[in-house]
This record gives sequence, structure tokens and C-alpha cells, in this order.
Amino acid sequence: MSDKKIIAVVGATGAQGGGLVRAIMSDPDGGFTARALTRNIDSPKAQELAALGAEVVAADVDDVESLERAFDGAYGAYCVTFFWEHFSPEKEGQHVRNMAAAAKSAGVQHVIWSTLEDTRQWVPLEDDRMPTLMDSYKVPHFDAKGESDRIFAELGVPTTNLLTSFYWDNLIHFQMGPQEGEDGVLTFTLPMGDGKLPGIAAEDIGRSAYAIFKRGNEFIGRTVGIAGEHLTGAEMAEALSRAYNREVRYFAIEPDVYRGLGFPGAEDLGNMFQFKRDFQDVFCGNRDLEFTRSLVPTMRTFDSWLADNAERIPRG
Ligand SMILES: NC(=O)c1ccc[n+]([C@@H]2O[C@H](COP(=O)([O-])OP(=O)(O)OC[C@H]3O[C@@H](n4cnc5c(N)ncnc54)[C@H](OP(=O)(O)O)[C@@H]3O)[C@@H](O)[C@H]2O)c1
Repeated sequence: MSDKKIIAVVGATGAQGGGLVRAIMSDPDGGFTARALTRNIDSPKAQELAALGAEVVAADVDDVESLERAFDGAYGAYCVTFFWEHFSPEKEGQHVRNMAAAAKSAGVQHVIWSTLEDTRQWVPLEDDRMPTLMDSYKVPHFDAKGESDRIFAELGVPTTNLLTSFYWDNLIHFQMGPQEGEDGVLTFTLPMGDGKLPGIAAEDIGRSAYAIFKRGNEFIGRTVGIAGEHLTGAEMAEALSRAYNREVRYFAIEPDVYRGLGFPGAEDLGNMFQFKRDFQDVFCGNRDLEFTRSLVPTMRTFDSWLADNAERIPRG
């Protein structure tokens, strides 16, 4: 039997977990191996992970027993939740309770919990700078994660809280890239004013998590944040202009207008960007670039990410 330490990866067929499985499996002498959790072990994405040598097992974050089986014998676990699958902060909390309980009963020695800030610490519900959503939240998909940090702590699960950043991949997958107007000009729209947006290549989140596992107990009990770069909307537009070799203009839409755009999650994201814009010291400060590079020296910049991905961004 292999003496490699097993890392059980929730969301292994997705952005964060997938990056972690690939990071682990591309380092055969690193002392770790990946166990990929998926609801469908036969899917093409699951089979791609199996082809890398990862163990692929069935688990659902709704089903604590499936998580217990999947975490059994694992040294570490990467825990992530899937807000955009259900838009429910309460469900997100329940999924964290399920993962934490399973990690506890399986005796997992190191959990990395993919979290975000509970923005209500800085913008209490009575603060009317931004609307309260779903009765109890300012940024539901942030607040539910931040609120859940204590669940691992209360159960005594050795945990590193990992604050992630805006994926630049959103430009590809969530129509957040520059759009061509009737005048033929490309416009990149973000409700960030002149604020800096910490961003990251989604694949680098997994590589950072792997680096944290490799550093042993160093970060257990701590919250650490990662980003590839902190860029203003104007700087992102300049990078897009370089990548396309044509002008891309930045349009700093007001968060209030963004909240009214009407797509699912628009209010949540409008509040999120406003929080990032108005609490720069907190949000950028929590995601130190030097620290991130100390974990992953080859961390991608927005320019280097665009070099590989600019043509994949829909410009409709
Ligand atoms: N987009 C951003 O900029 C950004 C930035 C920071 C944080 N986040 C957070 O990232 C989280 C999502 O992570 P991601 O982007 O890595 O996800 P993702 O790419 O959307 O992948 C999610 C994967 O999770 C699995 N999954 C879905 N429901 C599941 C369930 N009930 N049980 C077990 N597995 C399930 C699916 O795999 P199977 O179908 O194979 O089971 C899917 O491949 C969200 O909570 C979001 O708030 C996003």
C-alpha cells in the first residue's frame, strides 16, 4: 500500500477542487495523492481525474455518511461549498456542518476550508449603504461562508481557512468579459469605481491549497488569503486591450445599477463588489500578494492568464 498522504477533495470536478487534484497528481514525489469526490464517478470530468491517477469516489455534500466514507483514511480534506447551485446561505451552512462532522469522525488531520469574509462584520444589517438580502445577509454567498468558519473550530477540526479571490475565469464562464457596443467599442464593466479587485486564475487556488498542505501544520488555526494580483477595473481593461490589441474601455457601473440588472444573483454580486470597493484595506489586506507568491512562486498574473485565455472570453 502506498504511504502517500491522501487529500480528499470536495468539488474535485470543479474549478477549485480540480486545480488541487491536478496540482497533487502532477507532483508524484510530493508525498501526497488525491481522492476526488464527485456525485458521478462516471462523468467525463471524473474520468479525466482518474486518468491522472486520482482515486475517484462518490460523495454528496448533502449526505454526511457519503462524506464520512470519502474522508475515511484521508490525512487532509479540501472543503468547498457550491452557493451558485442553490443560492441558499442556509444550505451552504448545512453543507459545512456535514463536511466538518465527517472530517471530525474520520479524524482528518488538516482541513482547508474555502471561505470568504462575513461582510456583516463591517456592514451590519442596519447599515443602509447596501440593501439587506434574504432578511439576514448583506452578501449572502460571502456571509454564509464566513459565518461557517466557526463550525470547524467548534468541532475541533484542525483547519486552515482559505480566503479565495475573484476568478478571472468568470470572464469566460459568467459573461463578465468586455462586451462590444453598437459603436463597435469593447467595454469592460465592473462596479468597482477606482478600487482594486483581487483576482486569481481559478487553477491557482488549488495550487495554493496544495502548497498549504505541503507546509504541514503551519497554517492550521489561521485564516490566510490569496490573490494573483490586485487590479483596478481600468488596469484590467488595459490588460484586455493589450491582449486583444484593440481598445477596451472600463465602465465603472454603480453597484446600485448593477444590483438592478435582474440576472439571478445580481443583488448579491452588486453588494459583493460594493463591499470590495468600499473596504479596500480589509479586502486587499486579507489577500497579500507576497504571501501568495511565497506559496506559489509561479502564480499567474492577469496578463499571463490572458495570454492563455483571452480568446476564450465571449465578447458578445
Ligand atoms: N467564481 C468566483 O469568482 C469565486 C470566487 C471565490 C469563491 N467562489 C466560490 O466557489 C464556490 C464554488 O467552487 P468552484 O467554483 O470550484 O465550483 P464549480 O467549478 O462550480 O464546481 C463545483 C463542483 O462541485 C460539485 N458539486 C456540486 N454540488 C455538489 C454536491 N451537492 N455534492 C458534492 N459535489 C457537488 C460538482 O461536481 P459533480 O457534478 O462531479 O458532483 C461540480 O463540478 C462557490 O461557493 C463560490 O461562492 C467563487
